[in-house]
Amino acid sequence: MSEASSAAASGGFLSTDWAPQPHPRQRAWVEVCEAAVQANARSLGRSLAAGCSLMAVVKADGYGHGAVPVARSAAAGGASCFGVATLQEGVELRQAGLDQPVLVLGNLSHPDELRACLHWQLMPTLSGMREALLCQNLASGSGRQMVAHLKLDTGMTRLGAPWQEGPRLLEALAGLDALQLGGIYSHLADADAPGTGLDPLTSQQQQRFEEVLSGLQRQGLDPGCRHLANSAGTLRSAGLHYDLVRVGLALYGHSPAAHLAGAIPLEAAMTLHARVSLIREVGAGVGVSYGHRFHTSRPSRLAVVGIGYADGVPRLLSNRLQVLFQGQRLQQVGAITMDQMVLDATDLPQLEAGSVVTLLGEDCGELIDPQAWSEPIGTIPWEILCGFKHRLPRLPQQREQGTNG
Ligand SMILES: Cc1ncc(COP(=O)(O)O)c(C=O)c1O
Repeated sequence: MSEASSAAASGGFLSTDWAPQPHPRQRAWVEVCEAAVQANARSLGRSLAAGCSLMAVVKADGYGHGAVPVARSAAAGGASCFGVATLQEGVELRQAGLDQPVLVLGNLSHPDELRACLHWQLMPTLSGMREALLCQNLASGSGRQMVAHLKLDTGMTRLGAPWQEGPRLLEALAGLDALQLGGIYSHLADADAPGTGLDPLTSQQQQRFEEVLSGLQRQGLDPGCRHLANSAGTLRSAGLHYDLVRVGLALYGHSPAAHLAGAIPLEAAMTLHARVSLIREVGAGVGVSYGHRFHTSRPSRLAVVGIGYADGVPRLLSNRLQVLFQGQRLQQVGAITMDQMVLDATDLPQLEAGSVVTLLGEDCGELIDPQAWSEPIGTIPWEILCGFKHRLPRLPQQREQGTNG
């Protein structure tokens, strides 16, 4: 079919040159303040023990903010390397031209994955000798060196070799001439536990890590870069910093626990907006949305907003969510549906079709943070941030120069 006849068959709507395109701010969207990520990286950097560097954890598409812009902003704020969970996430950074060291925090076990690591110069995490030997064979076969980090399980019971095996493994790794040990690390399971000082599990994990490090010292083995802390560990104690900290949540401007909030200045990098698509005037006693889980108690002005659970707003928040308009709070009412939700705008006559509401982030000095969503439904801010779907455009937000420096 010729171009002209295919355009005719489709009624002409497939031609792209002149056709109107959906506006990214028409329905619902995420705005990401890159300057906030940069300022947060700076603020974190200032809080680190002497000699410690910052790894920006940008896995899961930069916790939903967009991995590449976040990685660039974090590097501009002083992050020296990146942490990703998957091979694809590492390749995305390389294809975007980022050339800083990248550690893959997930386990890569297939030779093709490790071959890709070698090609893209990504550092795999080793949990034992099997992957180490694969790396050695791949690297020596291509006449190159491969850099990897050894992970030890000190109490998380997920990835990593048992911590007691650390010295023996390091000795074995030292015999692999094409494998260079870039570092040794472990992951804290409960560093955000309430209380001051170190919680018992973090103390135990640190003791085990320390025991391995002193064993290595006695054997004269150099483990390279030593790292243990996530956001909570980083904010909790400089004693957990070692040579590098791996920071995710705090980089995006959120505290991993209420008792760690305010430890350093942080700014939320994400705001979530949606537009009112329709205003409805209804009487008292009218049921709203699926299952009529809300009934109006008075003659009401309802605002329909084009965002729902298919965008990542948990349905469990139905009747519990609030949104901001001109610094005032509106209650969401009835079941949150796949693509829409309803607000009670009875007390806000200035809200009209086309108005933009803020679901997360700041509006005229009022703030809704991810904890306000996660706590009522028994989850964590990490899951809220990572839950926003690709249907929501990610757009850069402009703002005044960073207030935290
Ligand atoms: C191994 C590892 N290090 C660091 C982080 C960053 O954690 P946080 O977002 O709490 O800073 C994660 C995230 O889950 C992780 O899996």
